[in-house]
Amino acid sequence: MLCAEMPQKAPIRYNCTYGSRGPMKPTASQRSVSPQRRFSRRDFLKVSAILGFDTLLLGIAGFGYITRIEPTWVDVRHVSLRLPRLPRAFSGWRMAQLSDIHIGPWMTLQRVRELFEMAVSETPDALALTGDFVLTYGWRNLSYQDELGELAGLLAEYTRRMPVFAVLGNHDHWYNAAQVRGALEAGGVQVLSNAVSVLERGDARFYVAGIDDAYEGKDNLDAVLSQLPPQAGAILLSHVPDFADRSAATGRFDLQMSGHSHGGQVVLPFVGPPVLPKWGQKYVSGLYRVEGMFQYTNRGVGMTFPAVRFNCRPEITVFTLESGETD
Ligand SMILES: [Fe+2]
Repeated sequence: MLCAEMPQKAPIRYNCTYGSRGPMKPTASQRSVSPQRRFSRRDFLKVSAILGFDTLLLGIAGFGYITRIEPTWVDVRHVSLRLPRLPRAFSGWRMAQLSDIHIGPWMTLQRVRELFEMAVSETPDALALTGDFVLTYGWRNLSYQDELGELAGLLAEYTRRMPVFAVLGNHDHWYNAAQVRGALEAGGVQVLSNAVSVLERGDARFYVAGIDDAYEGKDNLDAVLSQLPPQAGAILLSHVPDFADRSAATGRFDLQMSGHSHGGQVVLPFVGPPVLPKWGQKYVSGLYRVEGMFQYTNRGVGMTFPAVRFNCRPEITVFTLESGETD
């Protein structure tokens, strides 16, 4: 019996849709809708567990990639440049660049050796080391005395085979510039702290100059320029890439090689590097033209804190220089 059919005086029952004849049959419109299974709490828990597990796996894989795979996945880049003042006798001269080695908890001397082996397997004529040999930020009170002693021994193996040039970086100054310079020189490296070195082939001369770290205000460009013959062809090693605006303005260098930025270390797609250091924000990574000078910024082989790399592989650059001299 339906509620509307009940006699007026009949007491109102709480569950009036259910009379003595049992539950009501569905109407035609109700029958046309197919019955759907309810998404139960158990289903919800199952889906959550699957999604949670997948996310966890993805997280572990991602963490493994940025901490273990990409930081060791070295990109050996070959860059050919024609330098206007490179004497013809130096055509084809090759220089491999390693930067931002950052010896420390992650960068062991064994890793350093592997990196040098990769660089020299490219058979360069010389090596350029553009600063930050140690890691200080976030790792205070560490001593690198033993590691620097080992580094000197390792470098000596390479300086016997080819000239090796270096400049210091901000981390070297933050740690102990004299100690880092001492280790490099003990290994036979020419440390160009506002200094110039000359390369000779027959009568031809070409110059490799180095500026001390501008981040720490140790640069002295006038001192470098005073050591360079006026018409000489020269390349400049500068730890910080954004020094290029100053060096290019002198018109005295054909190429500046730098590091420091690590290319950002983490480069987000469509966004770029979220964090860049001072003096490494304009010429972040790769090749640039600054007035008449080439600027090349190497992404480095080591890392600063946090020790991760994403979309920004470590790099060894091998330059092949051609002469732009005309008759
Ligand atoms: Fe640096």
